[in-house]
Amino acid sequence: MASAARTASRAFLRSTPATSSFRPAARSARFALPSQGFRAASRRGYASEAGEAKSSNSLLWAGIAAAGGVGAYFFLKGGDASVSSKDFVPSKEDYQKVYDAIAHRLANETDYDDGSYGPVLVRLAWHASGTYDKETGTGGSNGATMRFAPESDHGANAGLKHARDFLEPIKAQFPWITYSDLWTLAGACAIQELGGPAIPWRPGRQDKDVAACTPDGRLPDATKEQSHIRDIFYRMGFNDQEIVALVGAHSLGRAHTDRSGFDGPWDFSPTVFTNEFFRLLVEEKWQQRKWNGPKQFTDKSTGTLMMMPADLALTKDKAFRKYVEQYAKDSDLFFKDFSNVFVKLLELGVPFTSKAEDRYVFKTSESNNPLTQDYYEVLNLPFTETPTALSKQQLKAAYHKALLKHHPDKAPGAIAKDVQTTTSSSLPTSDTNSPSHTGHRYTIDEITTAYKTLSDPYLRAEYDRSLRLDRARVAEREKTGTVFHTGLEVVDLEDLACDESDADGALWYRGCRCGDERGFLVTEQDLEREADHGEIVVGCRGCSLWMKVLFAVEDDDGDEQDT
Ligand code: HEM
Repeated sequence: MASAARTASRAFLRSTPATSSFRPAARSARFALPSQGFRAASRRGYASEAGEAKSSNSLLWAGIAAAGGVGAYFFLKGGDASVSSKDFVPSKEDYQKVYDAIAHRLANETDYDDGSYGPVLVRLAWHASGTYDKETGTGGSNGATMRFAPESDHGANAGLKHARDFLEPIKAQFPWITYSDLWTLAGACAIQELGGPAIPWRPGRQDKDVAACTPDGRLPDATKEQSHIRDIFYRMGFNDQEIVALVGAHSLGRAHTDRSGFDGPWDFSPTVFTNEFFRLLVEEKWQQRKWNGPKQFTDKSTGTLMMMPADLALTKDKAFRKYVEQYAKDSDLFFKDFSNVFVKLLELGVPFTSKAEDRYVFKTSESNNPLTQDYYEVLNLPFTETPTALSKQQLKAAYHKALLKHHPDKAPGAIAKDVQTTTSSSLPTSDTNSPSHTGHRYTIDEITTAYKTLSDPYLRAEYDRSLRLDRARVAEREKTGTVFHTGLEVVDLEDLACDESDADGALWYRGCRCGDERGFLVTEQDLEREADHGEIVVGCRGCSLWMKVLFAVEDDDGDEQDT
C-alpha cells in the first residue's frame, strides 16, 4: 500500500515539490515523441485569417492523377513505382496505407488555418455525401462530382478546393483508389486523427462524370433555421437526433469570410473533436455580432467564438434541443452517435457489394507509433508494474546476450531476414516467453541505448514512467477506441506546474484550451484519495474538457510504491 509513507520523500523530478511524495508516473521528453493527438491539441492560433493552401503543385498532381485515373492500375508504393496487375484488388492493408499517408500529411502540413487541414477534409466528405436525395437516389459520395464545375462552384462548396488539393498527392500515390473513396476515407481519417471516435469505413464508390453533378441548393443554408434544416436532412433520410449529432462536427474548424461570409470558430479547440459545440450552445450566452457581415452570434464571455443562425436553431427547436442537451452533458453518447451517423452519411446511395460488418476500422497514427520503445523487450528482461531490482551482472548479461542474439553474423538463424523492429499497435509484452520476442531485430544502437538507460537508476526510473504512461494510453485507446476519449488527454503529473504556496498542501495545475490558465487543478488531497490507482481524472473548472493525470507515490526511501 502506498499510503503508509507519504510524508518525507524527497523531490524526484522537477515538477514535484520537495515536501510531496507524489511524483510523475511516467513521461520524460527524452523518451516520448509528441503524439498526433497532442499536436492537434496544441494548435490554437485561431485568431488567424484563413491561410491559402499551398496548391501550386495542384496542376502537376492533377496531371499525374489523370494519368493514373479511374481504373488505372499503377500502384506506387512509397515513391517506388511498381506496376501491379490490372486485377489489383486492394486489401484492408492497402487502405490503411492510404489512411496513413493522409494522417502523415495532416501531421506535417500544419501551416494552414488553426494548424490542421482536418476540419476542411471533414467538410469535403460531408459536402460530397450530403447532396444525396433518397427519392431519386441521386447525389451522395458515390461519384465525387465536386471535381467538376458547376458543382465545385456551388456557393456551399467555397473553400473546399483546399481539401481537394490537399488530397491530390495522396491520389497520385495511390491511383487505384477512386476520388469518391478517397474523399470519404479522408473524412474518416480526419475525425479519428483529431481525437474523435472510430469511423468504420468501407470502399466501393465509383467516380462519375460531370453529367452526374447535382443541382445547387442541396446543402444547408446557414442563414436559415429549423424547417429548412429538416427539409435538407430529411431529404437525405436522417431524423432529428441524427441531424443534431451530425452538426456536432462544428466542434471542428471555423467559418471564413472569403468562403461562407461567416467568421470564426465555434469553440476553443477547433482542431480537436469534442462535444464543446453542444456545451457552448447550452451554457454560453450568444449575442448578435455587430458587423458588416451576415447575421451571426458571438459568445458573451470572450467575444471570440461564433454561432450561425442554423446552429442556434438547434437550441430553439424543442425536438432538436433535447439532443443538444444530451450531447452537451454526455460526450460518450455524442461520440457513439456521431460515429454511427457519420458512417451513414458517407455511405448514402453507395451500391456496396461488401457487407456492413466488413467495414474497416483504421489504426490511428498514434496507435501505429507507440511513443516508447520497450527497452525491456530489447534486452529480453521482464518489466513489471512494480519496479524490481536489476543487478549490474544481470543487465550486463542481458546486454551481451542481446548483442549476440541480434548480431546477424553470430546468430544467423535466430532472426528472420526481413523482420523489423517493433512497431505493432499494441506495446510488446515483457513476457519472455511471448512470441513477440522471437521475431524482432534490434540494432546495436538500440541495444546499447536500452542497456545504458536501464543501468542508470535515474534514467531507468524516468523511463519506467514513460513506458507505463504509454501503456495506459494504449489501454485507454483499446477501451474507448480513441486516445482523446471525449477530450480526455492522458498526461503525467510532470506535465503539470506545481504551486507549493498553499497552506493546505501542494497544488498541481495546467491551463485548459478554454483559456483558463489553471483550468485543471489537482490537490494533494486528490492524489491521496486516488493513491492506490495511480491516476486521477480531473475536469476543467471552466469548461467540459477532461484530463487524466498519472502519478506514482514514493515511500520514505524514495522507492516507488505499487499504484
Ligand atoms: C445545418 C447544417 C449545416 C450548416 C448550415 C453548415 C454550415 C457551415 C458553414 C457556413 C461553414 C463555414 C464554411 C467556411 O466559411 O469555411 C461550415 C463549416 C464546417 N462544417 Fe458545417 N454546416 C452544417 C452541417 C455540417 C455537418 C453535418 C458537418 C459534418 C458532419 C459539418 C462540418 C463542418 C466543418 C468541419 C466545418 C469547418 C470547415 C473548415 O474549418 O474549413 N457541417 N459549415
